[in-house]
Amino acid sequence: MAYQLNLNWPEFLEKYWQKQPVVLKHAFVDFVDPITPDELAGLAMEPEVDSRIVSHVNGQWQAWNGPFEQFDNLGETNWSLLAQAVNHWHAPAAELVKPFQVLPQWRFDDLMISFSVPGGGVGPHIDQYDVFIIQGMGSRRWRVGDKLPMRQFCPHPALLHVDPFTPIIDEDLEPGDILYIPPGFPHDGFTHETAMNYSIGFRGPNGRDLISSFADYALENDLGGEHYSDPDLTCREHTGRVEAYELERLRGMMISMINDPEHFEKWFGSFITTPRHELDIAPEADDYTAQEIVDALKEGQVLTRLSGLRVLRVGDRFFINSECLETVDAQAADALCRYTVIGQQELGSALDNPAFAGELTALVNQGYWYFDE
Ligand code: SIN
Ligand code: CO
Repeated sequence: MAYQLNLNWPEFLEKYWQKQPVVLKHAFVDFVDPITPDELAGLAMEPEVDSRIVSHVNGQWQAWNGPFEQFDNLGETNWSLLAQAVNHWHAPAAELVKPFQVLPQWRFDDLMISFSVPGGGVGPHIDQYDVFIIQGMGSRRWRVGDKLPMRQFCPHPALLHVDPFTPIIDEDLEPGDILYIPPGFPHDGFTHETAMNYSIGFRGPNGRDLISSFADYALENDLGGEHYSDPDLTCREHTGRVEAYELERLRGMMISMINDPEHFEKWFGSFITTPRHELDIAPEADDYTAQEIVDALKEGQVLTRLSGLRVLRVGDRFFINSECLETVDAQAADALCRYTVIGQQELGSALDNPAFAGELTALVNQGYWYFDE
């Protein structure tokens, strides 16, 4: 089903995005859960799906990672089951992501779904991403504190909690309400009535991730092999000190690698389109001919992008699932990045170019796009 989100995006971005948490009451009218608790439990039994159970009994926090074989012995209170990247595995749940595609696709991370029984929750914590928590069935009380320096600690090796906080938001959410929380604001959801929650997460990379990934790229591409040189060296009094101008030269060597626009774009395109969660790529790839694909598109069929596949344009280059797409038709490749469903209208005259039809066929046969029957 297509979800209609009642949200004034320009106003939301100006007032709240990355600034303040907010409850958006009735953001979805007559909200219908896209997945049942049983289906979620089924996904948590699959090894490809990243899932966990968190419980809190008699003051004792516990956490277990999936895949799970059964859910007996958990009791009727005080636990939650959480599964990451459900949008990769469950098409109706992936529909929930669509209303948020107003935001840049490169910032989107995944759809996490939780099922919680009364008393369940993961405890007070801080996330380093922007999250829209949609309330599905049931109800939960959400408390959000201000973004202040806070002590974090591990009540269990797999859980990172924060000290108690004074809430700036303290509300019961009903089906269709959304709680938006920017990075760094402590929050805690306590379940009143058995509940489903849908977290649409947006994550910005941190400097550490960027530097480490760029270093990998430099190694793979044999960049930065030139050594420091100092033909202008003169005698100095203190030979045990690295001089400021030398530090500046070393910094310059590193910055010049990052400043190379071609390498920067090639690296970033690959980095940002590398999936952080497994994709549901069909094991038996399709074997279409280019003619079959062109005919189907010209007859009005459309191609749907594999859910969770990261397809982005960076500068004038196109990246799909960490690979740069060498294309004969930049306009059509741009459409592949822009739209998650494409047909003749979006691809235009590229369909009459056999070289582009060949590129598209390779992508479809790899399982990256498919005809929705
Ligand atoms: C949950 O759904 O219980 C966890 C969501 C969150 O706090 O990020
Ligand atoms: Co959280």
